[in-house]
Amino acid sequence: MSLRLGDIAPDFKAKTSIGDIQFHTYLGDSWGILFSHPADYTPVCTTELGRTAALQSEFEKRNVKVLALSVDGVVSHQNWIKDINETQNVSVGFPIIADEDKQIAHLYDMIHPNASETFTVRSLFIIGPDKKIKLTLTYPASTGRNFVEVLRVIDSLQLAAKYTVATPANWVDGEDVIVGLTVKTEDALVQFPKGVKVVKPYLRYTPQPNK
Ligand code: BEZ
Repeated sequence: MSLRLGDIAPDFKAKTSIGDIQFHTYLGDSWGILFSHPADYTPVCTTELGRTAALQSEFEKRNVKVLALSVDGVVSHQNWIKDINETQNVSVGFPIIADEDKQIAHLYDMIHPNASETFTVRSLFIIGPDKKIKLTLTYPASTGRNFVEVLRVIDSLQLAAKYTVATPANWVDGEDVIVGLTVKTEDALVQFPKGVKVVKPYLRYTPQPNK
């Protein structure tokens, strides 16, 4: 059965481009992103890993550890990283898991046999410091993911973890947020001293509390 939001992200041991890791230990108290790609030495994957590496400081600012995965081996990953660094003008610092026996791919349901029997699809999991799954994404091989969108989701998740708020469609960091449904309007005025705009009793905005 596939993993659902709120499930504990399964722990595993893995060989990676930077050595062996135990997943939960590697994450420690950080947030995590685990994402699979179909194969090394493929064009879309090269750009995806390059884009992730280019955003490394943004992930670090948010206390997020990133791990990529495919069913290729460690040496393949290490040699491909040289190409990624050269062509995308980056320095890949995050580990790429070498899941040659597909154990982790099966654990996380990253192989969709009707898409490909052998390759992992473009799965992505955001994992909280409590090791629970906060977001899942599945993209086809032909579509590279938007890692700025992944950062946007992390901003939203981290805000909602700290305050009783949600974020509206297309929200980006710094914009007004939505007062959580569980907060009564009279309490919202105390909880959010920057002000509350009531559009409907169920639709109330407040300036982003941590800005
Ligand atoms: C790619 O990364 O370009 C790719 C990988 C597998 C299938 C199709 C495209």
